[in-house]
Amino acid sequence: MALNFTRRQFVRTGAAASLATWLPQGVFSNTSANKKAVIHADDEIGLVRPEFHSNFAEHLGSCTYGGIWVGKKSPVPNINGFRKATVDYLKELGVPVLRWPGGCFADDYHWREGIGPAEKRPKHVNVNWGKYVEDNSFGTHEFMAFCRLIGAEPYFAGNVGTGTPQEMRDWIEYCNFPAGSTLSDERAANGSPEPFRVKYWGVGNELWGCGGNLRPEQAAGEFRRFATFARLIGGNDVYLVGCGPNGNDLLWTRGFMDTLAGRARMNGYSMHYYEGGSLPPTQFTPEAMYTQFNLFPRVEQSIIQQRALLDSYDPGRNIGLFLDEWGVWDQLREDSKGRLWQQSTMRSAVAAALGLNLFNRQADKLYMCNIAQLINVLQAVLLTDGPEGKNCVRTTSYYAFMLFKAHRSKKAVRAEYDGARLPVAFGGGRGGGRGGQPEPPPDLSMSASRQDAEMVVTFVNPRHDVDMDVDCAVRGVSVKQGRAQILHDPDINAANSFDNPDKVVIQPHQVAAEGDRLRITLPAMSVATVTLQVG
Ligand code: AHR
Repeated sequence: MALNFTRRQFVRTGAAASLATWLPQGVFSNTSANKKAVIHADDEIGLVRPEFHSNFAEHLGSCTYGGIWVGKKSPVPNINGFRKATVDYLKELGVPVLRWPGGCFADDYHWREGIGPAEKRPKHVNVNWGKYVEDNSFGTHEFMAFCRLIGAEPYFAGNVGTGTPQEMRDWIEYCNFPAGSTLSDERAANGSPEPFRVKYWGVGNELWGCGGNLRPEQAAGEFRRFATFARLIGGNDVYLVGCGPNGNDLLWTRGFMDTLAGRARMNGYSMHYYEGGSLPPTQFTPEAMYTQFNLFPRVEQSIIQQRALLDSYDPGRNIGLFLDEWGVWDQLREDSKGRLWQQSTMRSAVAAALGLNLFNRQADKLYMCNIAQLINVLQAVLLTDGPEGKNCVRTTSYYAFMLFKAHRSKKAVRAEYDGARLPVAFGGGRGGGRGGQPEPPPDLSMSASRQDAEMVVTFVNPRHDVDMDVDCAVRGVSVKQGRAQILHDPDINAANSFDNPDKVVIQPHQVAAEGDRLRITLPAMSVATVTLQVG
């Protein structure tokens, strides 16, 4: 049956109510809203570091084993044991930095067990994730080879929880010392005469929790000890990242920084902020989705407040603020696919874009952000484990990241827009609310960046029931031409699966862009990137 109604007639006749029952679950009839925005192309915020689009791979579920690594004898097409499809897709996406081997796993990982002939490597119970037997067949050399295949810079998380300063300092020597020491010669004997030159080293992970349940003063004390010996071997070339708070825990940061007291140089400081979900990934309701989306202004507020507190100790901003782990963490059940296996939906893609937009807006305050995790686990960009021949799917989150790629290495510029939320309106940090008042539904989100004659603008419509017509003024440059791409599905639960891998993919989209204006329509549940040539 053809439905020849305009949207207004549709709503007026009351057909909307009766038709709603025919629509697939998660698809809703829409109203439309006009939104105004202004981009200040000359008002620079800061560099959109490619590192904002970094990722994280842990020995958890099927992220590393099965996702990255299938082994050399696998029937799955592979390059020396690395799943070929993941290599191809990740190369195309570009993963600036990849953090490994955890997560919680890192504080129970002993790097020496993951080098040398694979068949001789010790086996250990993975106490954090599933208590399966870790055979250490994926270790330092395998990780480095994978990073080289996909063009990612490695970021190692050192073991503070069950490790020692010596163990971490030896790992640095093994990886980075050119030649002539017993450890560097061992590396050469294991197939890598050239040093790995690993720059980023985390000093423990979540030391307030799975890394040892430490107090901030203890964690800073450990940093001082570990950093002393890491620097003796790694000199000033290693970039040491201290363990920051869970969410916006300002007391943690104060306790940590007071104890650090300038006694050990810390290059980076990492906070973790997951956006929890109250339902399984493909069964979200609009209400549950909005509750999750409304966490993003709190993430933004946390970045602002944590940065301000760090600045009070470090006015020169020499310490980089990391969002070491972030992403949606929905309700998951353990299933045969392994721990924390999570599907990404249109909702997840919108969530990713809300995060990436806010990183652009706070570009001056951030150094690196690592979404959790790379494959199969939590907000993964790829899913594997499909039947043969369908061994790797690009998730909606993959495509959200793709839509932000053009921002990399440009300067974020200021944008004002209807619906922009002052993060401060949302109270303090994780769990901070509005005094029992219901939060408003999320609204338009946007960010812009510019480099010379190219400007990139990303818009997000997080509403499931409102299409947005955006009328955007452009100040400071003149627009010559523009093109747009969109990721959109009216179904908040739509996902790419092994049977339907291209259900939600990037499409070309209409945009009117000329002179000092840009106009675009954003259908409900969409992420759109506009690339403008400007003069
Ligand atoms: O990403 C999953 C887990 O979440 C990590 O291991 C840990 O750091 C965090 O709590």
